[in-house]
Order: sequence, then C-alpha cells, then structure tokens
Amino acid sequence: MIYHIRGGRRLEGCVKIGGSKNAVLPILFATLLTRGKSILSGVPEITDVDTVLSLLRAFGAEVRRVAPDVLEIETNNLSYASPCERITRQIRASTYLIGACLGRFGRVEISAFGGCSFCERPIDLHLHAVRAFGGEIRQNEILCKQLYACRVVFPIVSVGATVNGLLLASQVEDESILENVAIEPHVLALVAFLRIAGCRISILHTPRPTFFVRGGRLHGVKMRVIPDMIEAGTYLLSALVTGGRVTVEQIDPTHLSALFSFVRKMGADLTVKERSATIISPARATCADAVCAPYPALPTDLSPVLAAALARYGTGTLRDTVFPKRRSFLTPYHALGANFVESEDGAISFLSPDASHADSVTVPDLRTGAGMVLYALSLNTDTTVYDTQDYILRGYEHFTEKLNALGACVCEETHEHRKENI
Ligand code: EPZ
Repeated sequence: MIYHIRGGRRLEGCVKIGGSKNAVLPILFATLLTRGKSILSGVPEITDVDTVLSLLRAFGAEVRRVAPDVLEIETNNLSYASPCERITRQIRASTYLIGACLGRFGRVEISAFGGCSFCERPIDLHLHAVRAFGGEIRQNEILCKQLYACRVVFPIVSVGATVNGLLLASQVEDESILENVAIEPHVLALVAFLRIAGCRISILHTPRPTFFVRGGRLHGVKMRVIPDMIEAGTYLLSALVTGGRVTVEQIDPTHLSALFSFVRKMGADLTVKERSATIISPARATCADAVCAPYPALPTDLSPVLAAALARYGTGTLRDTVFPKRRSFLTPYHALGANFVESEDGAISFLSPDASHADSVTVPDLRTGAGMVLYALSLNTDTTVYDTQDYILRGYEHFTEKLNALGACVCEETHEHRKENI
C-alpha cells in the first residue's frame, strides 16, 4: 500500500479499538489443540489473522467468518501437513506452530519464521522449552512421541517462548511449571482461552511470574478477544504527534497504566473512564524519559510511536530494554526531519526537528509504519509513505479509515494501481 498524506492535520475525535493482534494469534494456534468448535469474537480485521487462518486450514481446520469480527473454527479432523514456508515467513507468530503441532501431531518442521525484522529474533528459548517437554530437535524438524510434565525456567522474559510453553503444557495431564514467564495481557488472554478449554492454570506473581499448568484433552471455546493495547496506545499517541485531542473507546484501561503515566509526564491532559480514555496534547511537552520493558512497563511495540511523539516535540529520551537494538524508526524519522542523538547506554535523546525533510519514505516494519504516517500528518507539507510489504495492514485494522475519521487526510493506493498508472 502507498499512503499519500496531507500534512498539517491535528487529529480530533473518537476511535473504536479492535481486538488484540498479539492475543488472537496465539489463541488461533491454540485451537489446533482443541477438539470441537471454537467461536471467537472481537477478531481484528488484519492480514496477520488471515495468514494464521491459511496455516490452520492446511491442517484441515474448518474456518468460517460468520461476521466481520467473528470466527468459527472447527478442529475435529486434523492431519499434519508441512507448513508452507512462503506463509510461515510472513509472520513471527508462526513460531507458535511449534507448540501447537507438537501437541496435536507430535511433529513439526521448523521452517523460516518471519515477522518484523527490526533486530535479531532468536528462538533458543522456545527450543529450551521444547526439550524440557521431551521434544527431540533434529536438523529442521522437531519430534516427540509423548510430552512430559516438566519445570521450565526461562532465563529472560519472552512472550513467544511463554506461549509455546503454555501450548505444550496444555497437552500434559500432570503439572508443569513455567517460571519467569511473560504476563502481557495477550499472554493472559491465552491463559484464559486454555482455562475455558479445560486446562487448570494457576499463576504466582512473586518472586517472579510463574504458571502452574495441568492440561489434558481440550474442547472448543467461546470467547471475546481482548482490546488491542498497542492499537489503543498508537491512537492516544497520535494526538501527541499531531497536537490534537483523541478519545479511544472499547479499551481496557488497566492494560495502559504505564502509557497513561508517561503521557501525563509529557504534559498531556488525560481523562480515563471505564472503557475509554481521552487525551489532549500539551502546547509544549515536558521532557520525559520513556523506558520500554516487559509488562506492566511501557510496551516495546509502542517504542516507534513514542519516538514519533518525542521527535515531534524534540524532547525526552527513549530506551527499549526488550529489544535494545530496535531502532529501525530512526532512519525514516530522520528523513522526515526528526533529530536525535544516541548515547552509549542505548538511550535516544530527541532534539528539535528540522523544518526541511524528505517528501517520501519507505516503511521498514509494522509499528514504525504507523509512527511514520502519524509523523507525516504533523508536517506542514504532503508526504508519500511507501509500505511495499504492507506491514501496516498486518496489525492495524482499517488504519486509513480510522485516521480519516479523526480528521486526517490520508489516501491509500495499492501498488498494483500505481503500476497500472505508470
Ligand atoms: C512478541 O514477539 C510480539 N509478537 C512482538 O510484537 C513484541 O514486540 C514482543 O513479543 C515483545 O513484547 C507477537 O506477539 C506475535 P519476545 P516475540 O520473545 O515473542 C529475546 C508487533 O509489532 N528472545 O518476547 O518474538 C528477544 O530477542 C510484534 O506486534 C531470545 O533471546 O518477542 C527479545 O530481546 C513485533 N530468545 C526478548 O527475548 C528467544 O528464543 C523478548 O522477545 C526468544 C526471545
């Protein structure tokens, strides 16, 4: 997609937030471990969901979209088929095939796992869990005749490895213990799904988050996907980037506490209600330091959007402890006029932006893509944002429509249409 953006727009109005991408993807893979029909509502209309559904269908899952945001998935008669590498390389969540396929079929080929490549993304912790449960890792295949209850201690907190640990543990009747796990709302959404499906899972929060899981034969689940805290955070920050006033609706404010504290520190006026939040940008921002870390801290997935806000005001610092090298936003933001210095401890300090800038930029990954469109809205001239890989559509439903409903002026053009007109 190519985004033609008219600059100088303050975003104002209300936007409804959809279901969480990073919650629905592991849940969709978890349906492979159930027998029966699952009904999921609040499913976001994003291409990552379509990608996972095509992987599920290849195993024989029957998937019906009964409403734009409601999926029925029937998983009684499945059989293993090699996952198509062209599809697995499109998304990072294809790593969840490891837990789901080992649990259901006792085997899985490890092919290319894709996703945003803003920095190195190893899978050693996933494989650590696989071995603990009895998986045998061959060159590009993992096999297991039986999964065994075990205790897995993760040396660092990983969303993906925790998800795979949960998927594997859900297939074992005896108690497995997963220690130092990720407790992001999207991970707890998978816990909720597995509990409804028939697992017994208890959570110990201190000294470090631990799941105690007793699994077994799982049945279909009816549930609603939690709201997307990253989408909500992106629209809240859009008000800061463009100097506007935005209300996000259909959110779970408890997931956004760290962001609320941060934007207040920046000087924003914020009103939080039971299911919504309204932000009014300050005329001048106060210098504030953002540190992204595992939940409940500021999420790493908001770091590119936080950077867009800090860069527009030309103040504050940003550090990401989850992906310390996540900096793919710096080059395109600099092209759009942002100024910053990088210090040795990994912090980025933002300085006053330049008035002159490029009139076209290319999107390197999903969250930076969203940040770039917001940044371009705040400029005084028009900008073209080329998203040649359609990253933004992977994670933001109806992105252009939602922005335009807030008063933006963004026109989409497909690459095919552009080629036809050349
Ligand atoms: C998930 O990725 C999300 N993806 C990411 O969102 C998100 O940025 C990330 O969690 C952190 O919150 C999905 O949920 C599909 P990690 P994941 O394992 O699971 C290191 C988006 O834009 N690590 O929690 O891949 C890793 O290098 C995407 O929606 C290992 O060392 O992230 C990182 O430093 C982008 N070995 C840290 O752990 C491993 O085996 C956390 O990564 C796995 C991870």
